[in-house]
Amino acid sequence: MTITAPGRLTPVLSDIWDVPRSWKLDTYRDHGGYEGLAKALTMAPAEVVNLVKESGLRGRGGAGFPTGLKWSFLPKPDGGPRYLVVNADESEPGTCKDVPLMLANPHSLIEGMAITSYAIGGHHAFIYLRGEVVHVYRRLLAAVREAREAGLIGTGLGPNGDYDLEITVHAGAGAYICGEETALLDSLEGLRGQPRLKPPFPAVAGLYARPTVVNNVESIASVPGILANGSDWFTSMGTPKSTGHGLFSVSGHVTNPGQFEVPFGITMRELIEMAGGIRDGHRLKFWTPGGSSTPIFTEAELDVPLDYDSVGAAGSMLGTRALMVFDETTSVVRVIARWTDFYQHESCGKCTPCREGTYWMKQVMHRLEAGKGLDSDVDLLLDVAGNIAGRSFCALGDASATPIQSGIKYFRSEFEAGTTTPAWELFPYEASAIFSEAGVR
Ligand SMILES: Cc1cc2nc3c(=O)[nH]c(=O)nc-3n(C[C@H](O)[C@H](O)[C@H](O)COP(=O)(O)O)c2cc1C
Ligand code: SF4
Repeated sequence: MTITAPGRLTPVLSDIWDVPRSWKLDTYRDHGGYEGLAKALTMAPAEVVNLVKESGLRGRGGAGFPTGLKWSFLPKPDGGPRYLVVNADESEPGTCKDVPLMLANPHSLIEGMAITSYAIGGHHAFIYLRGEVVHVYRRLLAAVREAREAGLIGTGLGPNGDYDLEITVHAGAGAYICGEETALLDSLEGLRGQPRLKPPFPAVAGLYARPTVVNNVESIASVPGILANGSDWFTSMGTPKSTGHGLFSVSGHVTNPGQFEVPFGITMRELIEMAGGIRDGHRLKFWTPGGSSTPIFTEAELDVPLDYDSVGAAGSMLGTRALMVFDETTSVVRVIARWTDFYQHESCGKCTPCREGTYWMKQVMHRLEAGKGLDSDVDLLLDVAGNIAGRSFCALGDASATPIQSGIKYFRSEFEAGTTTPAWELFPYEASAIFSEAGVR
C-alpha cells in the first residue's frame, strides 16, 4: 500500500470503492482483506491491544478518544460475556462517512470487529445501524453472511480453532440521541433510547451491564490496516497526536463535493482545492469543521491543520470531519434555524435545559428568520444557549447551543437584521440552492 505525502489522498478504507462489486468478500480479499485478522489471531489479545495503542488511532466518532486505551479499560475477564458494539447511527447534520464506508467496503468493518472482539475477549459483537438506511442494513447482513459462510466468523476460528465470534446487525428506529453511546446501549437492549448516568462507563457496565466497548464504524474499520501493515505505517500518516488516515466529508458549495480520505493535519484550503474550489463565481462565507455541533469557522481558519488539537486550539472541534461549506449567498440565520429545528426535534426530553431550551431557541430563530424578531432576541438566544451548554445531561444539549453561540459571534449583524427583514429578502433562497427542482446539481 503506498503512502502519499500529506495533503494528498491516502486511500485505505476508500481504496476499493471504485472497484466493481467492491462490497463482495472476494474483492476485499483480492485487495489484502482479512490478512490483518489472520495475523491478529496468531497474537495474544493483549498484543493486539498494544499495537492499536502504539498506532495512536483515535476514535473517529467525534470525541477522538484513543481507541486502544479505551479497550484497555475493560476489567479483567471474569468468565462472563464482554461485548463490542459498533456505533453506526451516523445522524449528525453534515456527517456522511460511515454510510458510504459500510456500503462500499463492509468487510473492512467486519474484519475490524473480529480483530477487536478477539483483542477484548468478546464472542458477540453488534452493529447498531441507523434504521433509515435500509440499503446499508441489507448490505451488512449479506456481508456478515458471506463472512460466516467463509469461516471468517462463527465457531472454531484461529490457528488453534478455539475462538468463536457471532456478529448481529441491529437496525435502530432512527434517532440522533441513539448515537450517544449509552442511549444506544439502552436502545439495543430494547428500552427507550435515552442517555445513562455515567459512571459506570460502558467499559465496566455496558450492554446488559457487562463490560462493553463502543466504537465508531470508521474507528473499527481502521483496525485491519494497522494489524496488516503495523503501527509505524499508520503513524507515518497524519500528525504526531492525530495519526493516520481519515475520511473527510466535504459538502455544500464546492464544485465537487465528496469523501476525501487524507491524513489528519490537512487544511481546509487544501480540501477545498481537492473539491474543485468554491462553486464558480462565489466565495466562501463560513464552514463547519466537524458537523453542525462544532463551532463554525470562516476564511480566517482555512489554514488551520485539521487535527484534534489544532482545531481545538482555534476554537472549534474536529468532530466527525463533516466539512459543510457555505458561500456568500447563504443566510446564516436560516442555516442555524434549520439546525436548531433538528436539535429540538431530536432532544430526548430527559433533562430540562435541553428539552425546554431547544424549544425556546427554535421559536426565537424562526421569528428572526421571518424578520419578526424582537430587539432583545439576540441576547435572549445567547442567554438560553448559555443555560443549555454545560448544564445538560448529555452532549446533545451542548451541540444545540454551539451553532447559535458561534453564529452570533461571527455574524451578529445578520441576527440583528432579523428584527426588521426576513432572511429570504436578505439572502434569496434560490441563490444558495445547489440542486434544481429536478434534483440536478
Ligand atoms: C447526541 C450524540 C450523538 C452521537 N452520534 C454518534 C454517531 O452517530 N456515531 C458515533 O460513532 N458516535 C456518536 N456519538 C459519540 C458516541 O457517544 C461515542 O463517543 C462514540 O461512538 C465512540 O466511538 P469512538 O471512540 O470510536 O469515536 C454521539 C454522541 C452524542 C452525544
Ligand atoms: S441533553 Fe437533551 S438529548 Fe441529552 S439527555 Fe438532556 S434532553 Fe436528552
